[in-house]
Amino acid sequence: MRLILEVWRQDGPDAEGSFETHEITDATPEMSLLELLDRLNHQLVENDQDPVAFESDCREGICGTCGLDVNGVPHGPEDNVPACGQHVRSFTDGQTVRFTPFRARSFPVVRDLIVDRTGLDRIIQAGGTISVDAGTAPDADTLLVTHDDAERALDFAACIGCGACVSACPNGAAYLYTGAKLAHLALIPHGKEERAKRARSMIAQMQHEFGPCSQIGECALACPAEIPLLAIAAVNRERLRAGFKWRKPN
Ligand code: FES
Repeated sequence: MRLILEVWRQDGPDAEGSFETHEITDATPEMSLLELLDRLNHQLVENDQDPVAFESDCREGICGTCGLDVNGVPHGPEDNVPACGQHVRSFTDGQTVRFTPFRARSFPVVRDLIVDRTGLDRIIQAGGTISVDAGTAPDADTLLVTHDDAERALDFAACIGCGACVSACPNGAAYLYTGAKLAHLALIPHGKEERAKRARSMIAQMQHEFGPCSQIGECALACPAEIPLLAIAAVNRERLRAGFKWRKPN
């Protein structure tokens, strides 16, 4: 298969970027898009050119590092699939595939297709630690969690923190990400004491670095973990609950 690759090249955060065009003539339908970039890099290195910088680790949808935009869509044309799981078979012979870094003010470009997503880590850091009783480990069944709560918590815990939700959102909002974390933690008994404080800190940090939510829903369509829009409701619920808790005298 022959594909035309338009790839964003940028030397650093303050450098001016531009698109470079390359041709791959031996792509195969079963190749993943990251393997297509590997193929391009092989070709560039053979011609004494700098390879394209892009991130990946697990290449099986777990780590969330491979985020980039493909033809303007976070991760690529297949819904709810990370870039490492997208395949060349989604494109036709001779088609142009345009690779750009995730586009959001909160994700400055580090180099080429790599962006700095540490803003998401700072939301988690703002949540702080949870209280754990010292002493011997309690029996597993002294801390009961219903099956339904465990299942729902796992649904939200599936977020891989790739940042596709932020890139997909016209406002660059991180509500889906923050909501997934808050909902997951609110459903399990550990860290219950810190629930209101955690919600206030994480939401404040999110609002400090990311845009507002206007409930367009693009975030959930792009999410490779299929985090539902309910996560956004979780942000609002936890904020409201934390507000009441804040006013309550201890
Ligand atoms: S490389 Fe880990 S999710 Fe894609």
